[in-house]
Amino acid sequence: MSYPTGVEKVECDILIIGGGMSGCGAAYEAKYWGRKLKIVMVEKAATERSGAVAAGLSAINLYLGMRWNENTPEDYVRYVRTDLMGIVREDLIYDVARHVDSTVHLFEEWGLPIYKDPKTGRYLREGRWQILISGESYKPIVAEAAKKSVDALYERVFITHLLPDKNNPNRVAGAIGFGVRDGKLYVFLAKAVIMAAGGAVHIFRPRAHGEGMGRTWYPPWDSGSAYAMMIMMGAEMTQMENRFVPMRFKDGYGPVGAYFLFLKCKATNALGEDYFSRGIEKLKQMKDKFGPYVEATPLPTCLRNHIMLEELKEGRGPIFMRHDLAIKEVQDPKERAAKERWCWEDFLDMTPSQALLWACLNLDPAEKPSELMVAEPYIMGSHAGCAGAWVSGPEDVAPPEYQWGYNRMTTIEGLFACGDAVGASAHKFSSGSFTEGRIAAKAAVKYVLEKAADYKPTVDDQYIESLKTKIFEPLERFEKGKATTTRPDLSFEYILPQQGLRRLHKIMCEYAAGFSMWYVTNEHMLQRGLELLLMLKEDLDKLGARDLHDLMRCWELVHRVWTAEAHIRHMMFRKETRWPGYYYRADYPNVDDQNWKCFVNSVFDPKTGEWKVFTRPYIQLVP
Ligand code: FAD
Ligand code: ADX
Repeated sequence: MSYPTGVEKVECDILIIGGGMSGCGAAYEAKYWGRKLKIVMVEKAATERSGAVAAGLSAINLYLGMRWNENTPEDYVRYVRTDLMGIVREDLIYDVARHVDSTVHLFEEWGLPIYKDPKTGRYLREGRWQILISGESYKPIVAEAAKKSVDALYERVFITHLLPDKNNPNRVAGAIGFGVRDGKLYVFLAKAVIMAAGGAVHIFRPRAHGEGMGRTWYPPWDSGSAYAMMIMMGAEMTQMENRFVPMRFKDGYGPVGAYFLFLKCKATNALGEDYFSRGIEKLKQMKDKFGPYVEATPLPTCLRNHIMLEELKEGRGPIFMRHDLAIKEVQDPKERAAKERWCWEDFLDMTPSQALLWACLNLDPAEKPSELMVAEPYIMGSHAGCAGAWVSGPEDVAPPEYQWGYNRMTTIEGLFACGDAVGASAHKFSSGSFTEGRIAAKAAVKYVLEKAADYKPTVDDQYIESLKTKIFEPLERFEKGKATTTRPDLSFEYILPQQGLRRLHKIMCEYAAGFSMWYVTNEHMLQRGLELLLMLKEDLDKLGARDLHDLMRCWELVHRVWTAEAHIRHMMFRKETRWPGYYYRADYPNVDDQNWKCFVNSVFDPKTGEWKVFTRPYIQLVP
């Protein structure tokens, strides 16, 4: 078969890339404000079950409860600022917080079952910010609203590049990609583009290996496409040195929040000791090293990791989640049985693999504890991590330093971002990502109506032709090269995507503070890591694909390598250890508020191939 099998051109007003939580939010809101506009969404998988919420969720981690005066947006800004060790874009966080409740109310209206407190009738809280849901069908419910909103949805189409305008390279005119089932080339032309393609998984070697390698915490769909495509086009990025290292139930990657906050479990070391309380006391003595953040309640996520890592290094692992004790403490048998059932439901709603693992290990959560472990790093912007694009803030809140265009517009004209794709504004989670999609889409509609009504997206035909060849090249390379080997999985003629991925994993894990190095690195290690990474980047021109699925894996790898490069370049630039427990610079082991309480930003110049890395000021808006 020769590829592409055909070429499909799609013209629209607004193109949404990625049908995850933020993309669905963008789709819903874009149609609300832009009734007469043509709204198109493109997703590499099936929207009903794609992205981080594919398997469902058991909680909504961001709900303020303003109708019951439970919290204010300012409270949330303070919480997120502390959790991210003092540096966040407060305008962006405030903006999400003030609108997020309305999103949750929509979800309930659309049929999402939310637990209620029988005494008050309010949503049942898991913690101060989190509410519990029966969320196995969370994604299908949200996807349905998005599907009903858009004028066209292209599923199983993988976007590889953003397209610059022919006459203005700093203006987006669309995007290009290929059908992972039909093998066609898709060229989308749009007046505005919303980047909603999620975070980056498999940048680092995961703890899961062999046939289990696909089992990571964050979803394998999120392959750094959002970051890579924006970087390649020259968008300014922020906090790309940041990562999220989640503490998880070991091997099944079950999330821990509801166990700590709702079930009130303790974690203990191998000796049955409450290592965490002891660790907190020890941390409080380390204000000189890690700054005032060591005294915060709740303790920042990275510092919670730090305590666990220290305990493991001192030889008192494994660490256990004591759901067994939490369940046994309950006197009433009915209530006890309900708690036990809840444990299973929590995972069956969100991380079924954890429930399966329990079954494989003969583990009854009422009888035995589960092991905990800190996972491999993920580059992302929606959870307790803040990598992503540097975007313009809301008109009424952002200071001039953070405001140059429409809300959530990147430094590329017409290109908006939301969810994991936006940096410096963590803790959006599912509800906040959907909300940020809505915010970005409302602004994009306004932009199209006010600034681009007469704009006709035009793209250089030669550029399209060159991309057409480049995108499908790995298929041809494999076809030609396979004749030179008796084992098509081993050849001098090409690198298969799995082989490239393993090389990336090895570089990142060993040089850029992965788990094999206990998350420690230094200038020399990063320099060496970058050298090796750039060699891998050169070799990406030798990728080979056996079929269309492999072709997607090839392009995912390309996007991952670009994301990894940004991560290393930023880590080299920030000469301090800002997030102990996420990574440590052994040569700069302290939090250095005096010199580094600022954003690290970067811009890649597509014309010269050069990177500029620099700082932007952190401005406190909420006292
Ligand atoms: P996603 O929802 O992941 O969407 C990205 C989409 O882009 C995907 O559909 C992907 O297929 C698509 N895509 C990627 N690359 C391309 C490309 N090149 N071309 C086309 N499409 C592309 N949040 C909570 O509120 N409560 C919880 O309890 C909770 N628990 C979680 C548990 C787990 C196991 C996980 C993984 C996440 C959890 N979260 C939770 C976080 C929440 O799911 C994310 O913060 C949120 O989904 C991020 O939204 P997003 O739109 O940025 O990314
Ligand atoms: S999930 O999004 O995959 O479910 P996780 O279980 O870590 O992630 O966190 C769920 C929520 O609980 C998040 O809001 C997180 O910040 C919070 N959380 C997790 N562990 C703790 C803890 N020990 N103390 C306070 N908050 C926590």
